[in-house]
Parts: sequence; C-alpha cells; structure tokens
Amino acid sequence: MEFNFFPVNNIFKNDITIVTKELLPEGFPGDGSAKVDCANKINIILDEIGWASAKAQQLIRPITSGAKMKLSDHILYLLTDPGDSNGRGSVVGLLKIGRKKLFMFDLAGYQHEVEPLCILDFYIHESKQRTGCGKKLFEYMLEHQNVRPQQMAIDRPSEKFLSFLYKHYGLEHILPQMNNFVVFNGFFDHGSAVN
Ligand code: ACO
Repeated sequence: MEFNFFPVNNIFKNDITIVTKELLPEGFPGDGSAKVDCANKINIILDEIGWASAKAQQLIRPITSGAKMKLSDHILYLLTDPGDSNGRGSVVGLLKIGRKKLFMFDLAGYQHEVEPLCILDFYIHESKQRTGCGKKLFEYMLEHQNVRPQQMAIDRPSEKFLSFLYKHYGLEHILPQMNNFVVFNGFFDHGSAVN
C-alpha cells in the first residue's frame, strides 16, 4: 500500500511501529508542526488500511480509522516494508488490540466478568498474505504485551485468522460464548483472562 504524495519511509523508521491515540510513532522526535504533519499522514494511512481490512473481511464499515484511534485507548501495530516502492516504503498490515469488559463462559458453563486484551483488527495486504508477515506482526505484539495467544479474546475472527491461530499456535478448541468474541481452551487458566 503506497501513498504517492509522501514516502512511507519518511514517517516510519522501523518496520513495525506502535501507534496510539496521538497518531504518532512511539517516541516521535519532532515538535509542533512536525507532529501535526506526521499525525495527519498517519490519519490518512489508518483510514486507507482500515478500509482495506474491512473489505477483506466483507464488513460494511471499517473497524479502524484515524478518527476511531484518536477516541480510543487501543494500541495499533503497523507493519511496513522499507524496501518496497523503489525505496519509498509501503504499508503492509495492521494489528489492533485493546481491553474490553466482557462476560465470558468457561468450559463448565460458568459466566465470568473479565477484561482481557482483545484482538480487534488484523490485516495483511493481499499481495503479502501467506508470506509470514502476519506471524511477524503477531509475534511482535505478543512479546510487547507479554501475553500468550490463548489469553486473548478475538472479536469475530475470520476463517483465515482461525486457520492462522491453529497453524502457528495450535489453537483449535473454542469455548462457546453468547457474544461475538472467540476465546480458546486455556483462556481461564491461571487467572489470565483478568490480568
Ligand atoms: N486461506 C486460509 N488460511 C489463510 C489464508 C487464506 N487465504 N491466508 C492466511 N491463512 C492462514 C493459514 O493458516 C496460513 O498458513 P498456510 O499458508 O500454511 O495455509 C497462515 O495464515 C499464514 O501465516 P502468515 O503468512 O503469517 O499470515 P498472513 O500474513 O497471511 O496474515 C491474516 C494472516 C492477517 C489473517 C491475513 O491472511 C489477512 O489479512 N486476511 C484477510 C483479513 C482477515 O481475515 N483478517 C482477520 C480478521 S479477524 C480480526 O481482525 C479480529
């Protein structure tokens, strides 16, 4: 995903960047107008990749946009490829997480109020899917959050994502719920769901 009017490499110095509500890369060094300019560009990037993710998931509106990020405490991991587009760089994918208060059933059918980290949006550009980009982004997030995949709740996972979780993490036994979130066997082990 290229942005003709600005090189992606001018904004992102690493191939994975953490973005929060300020819409700035973590530790952004610039001041005043540099910050505003950078946040505007990231806003454009998030709007575009948010729509691409929505289309890939056949959703009628995006889960991720610049405006939505500004109003949330979500954490977004953005994957870029600095070598793409004749050295201008491209945006490859996003992974968005955040905590949600949920009522979830355990294996015995007991309901618990929990506030786990949730996977809210996950997308890799079509040209790069199935080449390990998703795994790279997901692993980065797990390490950054110091969390295991089975401790997380997933908002409406697609078939591709379920296949991804099975392939890379062996997750297959879903605990049935009354909401749109999917959790796997192990979610309630060691109180992980409430940490
Ligand atoms: N069909 C079936 N499984 C797939 C597909 C596909 N088209 N693409 C990826 N996978 C799964 C498979 O298990 C695959 O292993 P395989 O090729 O040996 O079968 C594995 O993912 C590949 O791993 P990566 O290359 O690391 O994954 P990728 O970079 O493709 O990222 C992702 C996975 C994010 C699911 C990506 O395929 C994608 O963006 N899909 C479209 C959007 C989507 O479904 N996002 C998840 C929505 S749910 C949510 O966001 C909470």
